[in-house]
Amino acid sequence: MRHDEIVPVLDFGSQTAQLICRRVREAGVFSTLVRPDIPKDELAAMKPAGVILSGGPSSVFEDGAPTMDPGILDLGVPVLGICYGMQLACRALGATVTPGEHREFGRASLRIERTDGLFLGVPQNTSVWMSHGDQITDLEGARLDVLASTPTCPYAAVSTRADRAGVFMGVQFHPEVTHTPHGVDLIRNFLYETCAARGTWRMSDFADQACAEIRRQVGDKRVICGLSGGVDSSVTAVLLHKAIGDQLTCVFVDNGLLRKSERRLVEATFRDHFRIDLRVAEATDRFLGELAGVEDPQEKRRRIGACFIDVFKDSSADLPDANFLAQGTLYPDVIESGHGHAGNAANIKLHHNVGGLPEDLGFELVEPMRELFKDEVRKLGEVLGVPDQIVWRHPFPGPGLAVRVLGEVTRQKLDLLRDCDEILLEEIVASELYRRTSQVFAVLLPVRSVGVMGDGRTYESVVAIRAVETQDFMTADWARIPYDVLARISNRIINEVRGVNRVVYDISSKPPATIEWE
Ligand code: XMP
Repeated sequence: MRHDEIVPVLDFGSQTAQLICRRVREAGVFSTLVRPDIPKDELAAMKPAGVILSGGPSSVFEDGAPTMDPGILDLGVPVLGICYGMQLACRALGATVTPGEHREFGRASLRIERTDGLFLGVPQNTSVWMSHGDQITDLEGARLDVLASTPTCPYAAVSTRADRAGVFMGVQFHPEVTHTPHGVDLIRNFLYETCAARGTWRMSDFADQACAEIRRQVGDKRVICGLSGGVDSSVTAVLLHKAIGDQLTCVFVDNGLLRKSERRLVEATFRDHFRIDLRVAEATDRFLGELAGVEDPQEKRRRIGACFIDVFKDSSADLPDANFLAQGTLYPDVIESGHGHAGNAANIKLHHNVGGLPEDLGFELVEPMRELFKDEVRKLGEVLGVPDQIVWRHPFPGPGLAVRVLGEVTRQKLDLLRDCDEILLEEIVASELYRRTSQVFAVLLPVRSVGVMGDGRTYESVVAIRAVETQDFMTADWARIPYDVLARISNRIINEVRGVNRVVYDISSKPPATIEWE
């Protein structure tokens, strides 16, 4: 994608490489990852305002460790090296890197020697986040000056001397993570003090550029987008529609496992409001037929996944020229599947994703949000006018309520759970807790308990309430919902939903529990 002003990040495989791009974008300059071995001429052709070298899991001493074209240091634009990127560049400039005997991981106290330039406005003593094994031990011959140090890292930040044409700055710590409290200031200083950036990039530019790129990729062909009503697929659909209008067809599969007004919201938003060509595949009977008698959670997922693919194929089979499939893949999905630029970011999560489509359906993929993080997608959604109700939606799993009706799924249990879920969400929204929680839902347990209503004994279902707070959904804590809100939820569910006489609150964190119960 072309942008007026760009600061690319060479990706040496760090888990936080894309986070650097995002910090740069947040500071008003476009940034994207590029492969670590990009030749200097190719980089020069991007006309960058500056270049950043990311960290990475390798040691510069390892065979096959990623390297860079050293000519990049002589492009005449400022270069900032972070951790591994710093070591690589400092070595190329003649400094000595020594293999670390101990990994240094965690918070360190930084003492700043030079409070201008990179450290402008940063207190002289501050804390930074370290994560490295090797480090620079000698600057002799490299014509580099020390900017800052920590008790165990004498060259925690360095810079080339003023008489060198190409400015290089390096930091051993990670300014991009929130554990480095002044990290954002450092990145801004690099962009505005060193690179003299203008900082005119906004999310609306991303939308315009992405539209141009989509038009270039698909030409006059048709694109299908599987719409789930979640944030990612919704923003993808609206972006595609802005780019190619009627060449887009969205397919929404009603599998009968959705929450109460989900289908209505999707139809109202996409068909009525955005005027997108939306096909709704009514497939409740097919899905419930597949699920009859099945109790095992993985078997439920497998059947739902297979059925989804069949229904999707059937409902899009008659579309002419449908060569492309749009997907709301985000950067964390890319990195989790180990497909980062350096190809070696550790594979941290194998997700049991259901509700997705296999790669061999014969479509070429359109994935305009591959570089974005979730909150950037929300920002993009706002720029595109996607309603708040969708932009700020909690995630909902592909297998839907089937993994929240524990044990066998029936129409009657789904109806009961839908009623409970609706009350729960109404109360969470009314208490202004929706935006302060990450995911809230009800679970229908496969047990009954004894109760008393009026003068009579009851023997009815138990519903569990799950509410979690999390950044990344890989770890989560249970939300401290105030007792009075819980009381209202319990009271309403038991009074309003026939067949439930007990509500319990799940106080398990992940790990060791998971967010879903199945
Ligand atoms: P767990 O239960 O693994 O959930 O802690 C983490 C996040 O993933 C969602 N989830 C799924 N999403 N297909 C999906 O698309 C699935 O099979 C699935 N299982 C769990 C869950 O809702 C939570 O946000």
